[in-house]
Amino acid sequence: MIALDYSGSLSFSNLAQTRLLACKHPIYNLAMSIIEINHLSKSYRVYQKQEGVWASIRGLFRREYREVQAVRDISLQVEPGEFVAFLGPNGAGKTTTLKLLSGVINPDSGDCRVMGHVPWERENEYRRRFALVMGQKNQLWWDLPAAESFRLNQHIYAVPLDEFDRTRDELCEMLDVTHLLGQPVRELSLGERMKMELIAALLHSPEVLFLDEPTIGLDVVAQHKIQQFLKAYQEERKNTIVLTSHYMKDIQALCQRVVIIAQGSIFHDGSLDDIIDRFSGDKIVTLQIGGPDEVFQGLRKLPNVLEVEPPRIKFRIGRDDVARTLSDILSTYAVEDIVVEDPPIEEVIAKVFTDAQGGQVDDESHPDIAGVS
Ligand SMILES: Nc1ncnc2c1ncn2[C@@H]1O[C@H](COP(=O)(O)OP(=O)(O)OP(=O)(O)O)[C@@H](O)[C@H]1O
Ligand SMILES: [Mg+2]
Repeated sequence: MIALDYSGSLSFSNLAQTRLLACKHPIYNLAMSIIEINHLSKSYRVYQKQEGVWASIRGLFRREYREVQAVRDISLQVEPGEFVAFLGPNGAGKTTTLKLLSGVINPDSGDCRVMGHVPWERENEYRRRFALVMGQKNQLWWDLPAAESFRLNQHIYAVPLDEFDRTRDELCEMLDVTHLLGQPVRELSLGERMKMELIAALLHSPEVLFLDEPTIGLDVVAQHKIQQFLKAYQEERKNTIVLTSHYMKDIQALCQRVVIIAQGSIFHDGSLDDIIDRFSGDKIVTLQIGGPDEVFQGLRKLPNVLEVEPPRIKFRIGRDDVARTLSDILSTYAVEDIVVEDPPIEEVIAKVFTDAQGGQVDDESHPDIAGVS
């Protein structure tokens, strides 16, 4: 949940009533996708500060700017109940897209509706129906216990008291943080704080949730806990979630659909399996072979052998060659077991990012595609 400026007084006392009214709103059309993005673009004007004293003085009179095209002509539809991943190298435009969808920033051109609302019109009605959680930004009051920030949200979003108490208790129990509610946020660990951030964002039961790297910097256990929580929450509530993460385990555990963004444009839209089929030309084969170690001498000569540890040998092979090569091996050796796998997803995604950037390998752009195995 992001603290957008709440100037107008909230006229609805009941969230359900709000939704009912929203459904009758002339701009809300049930035939529409819940998120409709059409040709959306956003660029930033970045001040180019030159080095040196004279350059700084000159800059006081004549400033030089550079334009960064963060989002280029993106079109996308998301249906109710989808859990969609936005994947892309650093600087691809993922956070910018989520900020546009949340109405935090205005686009240069293009159109977008979320539940029928234009996000950057920042209607109170829209604010009550979505939430944005940014793993990199602290949105709770730092010196106050999370319980007090939650109470503030209850007032801001006009959540009925009994509904608020029920939702807070349920979420705290699911995330195992009830005992931490009274502790100032600044004293919480990163993982504990992230759980509180999620609870704060979910107290008003948003229909659409934007999660920008919610597991960043968390240890494997905390990441797993948040994944499990999001999965259970989404399965129960059937809300629509757009998630960005550099952790492939998050994407594998949660998202049926993956949208890859690179250099501000959509490069691929499909399932993770689609990505593997399209971008991974290889399979990894592991064989267990009976007989003495000498048997392996011939197999060691196979191209792309990754590991030989008798009785096992592991090698990489082109998808199209799997059947022929395996049939040759089966007719020559006493094969006891065969495992054919796709390469690690992190490796495939790194290749996709490289392809998406026109083959330029930028060391800075995907240093943190992280798999936790
Ligand atoms: N407020 C801003 N002012 C100027 N440029 C910005 C601003 N925010 C983002 N950018 C630039 O826009 C581009 C897209 O940034 P964005 O934060 O959307 O990327 P991202 O895909 O979220 O990357 P990451 O994976 O590192 O979070 C980058 O080149 C970035 O430097
Ligand atoms: Mg980002």
